[in-house]
Amino acid sequence: MLRSSCLICASSVEPFISFGKMPIANGFLTAAQLADEYFYELDVVFCPTCGMVQLGHLVEPEKMFHENYAFFSSTSTRMAKHFEQFADSVAAVLSPRSDPLVVEIGSNDGIMLRHFAERGTRHLGVEPSKNVAEIASSRGVRTISRFFDEDLAREILEQHGPADAVLGANVMCHIANIHSVVAGVKRLLKPEGVLVFEDPYLGDIVELTSYDQIYDEHVFYFSVRSLSALFAMHDLEIVDVQRQPVHGGSMRYVVGHEGARVASARVVRQTAKEAELGLGEARTFVDLRERIERSRGMLRQALDSLRAGGNRVVGYGATSKSTTVINYCGITAEHLEFISDTTPIKQGKRSPGAHIPVRPYAEFQRQYPDYALLFAWNHSQEILAKEGDFMRQGGRFLVYVPEVHLVDSDQA
Ligand code: SAH
Ligand code: TMP
Ligand code: ZN
Repeated sequence: MLRSSCLICASSVEPFISFGKMPIANGFLTAAQLADEYFYELDVVFCPTCGMVQLGHLVEPEKMFHENYAFFSSTSTRMAKHFEQFADSVAAVLSPRSDPLVVEIGSNDGIMLRHFAERGTRHLGVEPSKNVAEIASSRGVRTISRFFDEDLAREILEQHGPADAVLGANVMCHIANIHSVVAGVKRLLKPEGVLVFEDPYLGDIVELTSYDQIYDEHVFYFSVRSLSALFAMHDLEIVDVQRQPVHGGSMRYVVGHEGARVASARVVRQTAKEAELGLGEARTFVDLRERIERSRGMLRQALDSLRAGGNRVVGYGATSKSTTVINYCGITAEHLEFISDTTPIKQGKRSPGAHIPVRPYAEFQRQYPDYALLFAWNHSQEILAKEGDFMRQGGRFLVYVPEVHLVDSDQA
């Protein structure tokens, strides 16, 4: 049943879009698994009281995060660089302190923490998906394979003492029992300690109509306003916010104990911008739904006519985000010959829901298609830079964010 109350403040929520039945976004399937695929209702609700946008139905975390988790952070070189810089900025603040402790929630394959390990800084990664946690451990990143919550925070505190910094990237928005996580962070942080985390930003989703950010793992779509409400309930406060040009538009938040730090003027400015954008008003999300529906129509039309014209079209990047686009727009193996992806665990499998084959990148290079549907649009800079040959030979990217358009060698 669609949840009627807000996960943050328990007020009544307003549903604004339903995508229908969806499979697990990162649930790539072997031939044997095709028959009993799991589906849930993907719908999104808005809380007019605290402003939090959130899923209306939740998928159990164990169905998404396990020993076959398909998202390996280190597959993107750009993200590797991004997390090196993230780590450097935190390390610079911690350097005068004696023997600081850094804890990362959702540390995946160690993409960020390895930079603390290399410096000899005390660190601990918390990563429930065993396969990626093991990669991190094998790289010398100290990792425990558990779900972070208040109980685990207590255990960490007993074993390692309080933390100078708790970090998280693309994970806080994944956790439905966020009150337990925030209570745990509150408990774990030293008086001068900070929580620094980043997630896709609601303002960008609204501005770019990037509805493919909406899928099972993304329980919350954060704004400064809605997070301020959450942290205030735990005597924590946001002291800084910084836009990040990754994952299609993210926001990094720095959070401290209430009153421990002077908040940057950026926090007030961004909250005011959100009010201007209408992020606290229900009609903004009704508008968003209309734009999403239009985008679906245009993408389907583009793909149907490419198919009618006998073009070879493949998907570029079997991203988690693509699961929403493919299944919501009714894209099938009739439209896409295959989806090219560089992640070994996805190759040779079928995409969730539509069961389009996922093939290694070498297949894309072996015989360029006429068109590539750019599912990994959030990495477009990196991808357009390396696909000069494809475009020079007449290949075109079909992109759907912020609207449906083609990119050829002149525009790249
Ligand atoms: N931080 C990495 C990984 C993001 S994917 C990056 O930005 O690239 C989200 C990760 O969070 C997954 O590896 C998942 O297993 C992990 N995760 C999900 N729920 C969690 C929880 N309750 N505690 C800690 N990690 C969690
Ligand atoms: P993400 O958008 O969730 O980061 O996932 C990116 C996916 O796209 C991941 O499966 C790897 C794949 N990918 C490619 O196949 N080629 C590329 O050049 C890039 C950057 C990503
Ligand atoms: Zn609320």
